[in-house]
Amino acid sequence: MPDARCLIDRYASYLPVTERTPRLTLGEGDTPLVRARSLERETGVSEIWLKVEGQNPTGSFKDRGMVVAVAKALEGGARVVLCASTGNTAASAAAYAARAGMSCTVVLPAGQVAAGKLAQAIAHGAHVVAVRGGFDAALAVVRALADEGEAALVNSVNPHRIEGQKTAAFELCETIGDAPDALFIPVGNAGNITAYWKGFVEAAKTGLARQRPRMYGYQAEGAAPLVRGVPVAHPETVATAIRIGNPASWKGAVAARDESGGAIDAVSDSEILDAYSFLARCEGVFAEPASAAAIAGLRKRARTGGLGGAKRVVCVLTGNGMKDPDRARSLAGDIPEVEATPDAVRAALRA
Ligand code: F0G
Repeated sequence: MPDARCLIDRYASYLPVTERTPRLTLGEGDTPLVRARSLERETGVSEIWLKVEGQNPTGSFKDRGMVVAVAKALEGGARVVLCASTGNTAASAAAYAARAGMSCTVVLPAGQVAAGKLAQAIAHGAHVVAVRGGFDAALAVVRALADEGEAALVNSVNPHRIEGQKTAAFELCETIGDAPDALFIPVGNAGNITAYWKGFVEAAKTGLARQRPRMYGYQAEGAAPLVRGVPVAHPETVATAIRIGNPASWKGAVAARDESGGAIDAVSDSEILDAYSFLARCEGVFAEPASAAAIAGLRKRARTGGLGGAKRVVCVLTGNGMKDPDRARSLAGDIPEVEATPDAVRAALRA
């Protein structure tokens, strides 16, 4: 019986899979599309929807691509999967490898991975190695290891990742009945913006959508190589997921921007953190800082009148806020600790 929760089954005709491809699944995809009324009031846009990818099995959009990449690696006889990661790819690879009975090695930038993501990689039994340097250095290492045939590389340079991730664009077209007018998305290694654009182009060809959206990608100001047009040697941002100076899918991101008539722009860390708090407090949706870059971008574009009349907008919230508990905690002061009496609690609430 085909499993409705299995992304590979659901989109088999759009994916590089055969009947022999293992139907690996943790129930990925089919994520909620949530209306963002507070953001609509603030920006004046008629319809804003949040694609809550943090509700995937490991808490990020990576699961869509990872399930395809790991299934194909398994089909091809690999025993080990390997990736570099700012955290979410590692968590996803570790989970799907565990599910597939494969082993997993993740190479992380030392000291730059959010606590929840590291906990996931460890819990799923991945071999974790931290390297001195950023994500770009870690990616160079795993590419060299993969070239020597040591394992199947499951970073987004693996085309199966992009194929799986494009399914999010299909879901949007199915749910809305067409592609939105504009899509806002954070950009790090640039695989996801590449994948969405591929999905929208295919959706328009197969009749799943009548139009293609303008693609608006957002990088953090301190890690904005695509905006500057040159790699950034020492990327810096609070949004550690997108702390990347030399994106692997550079060309794909530029093509998505240019072919769609969109833009790739930068937002500051303070704009990112403002959007992060706004989402959690005014929409009730807890996404991680990198995801909030898309919201910060939409707010910025609305302020400067750069939306080109877009009426229906989708923002991709790529990762769950619980991935990075330290960031949330750092925004609050000390939590009062008092005697366990109503009076003491009342007094603390008044203080
Ligand atoms: N948002 C989150 C939460 C991410 O984890 C990432 C990338 C992005 C956005 C950017 O997506 O790289 O396709 O442009 N995380 C990768 C990782 C780099 O290793 O987990 P992208």
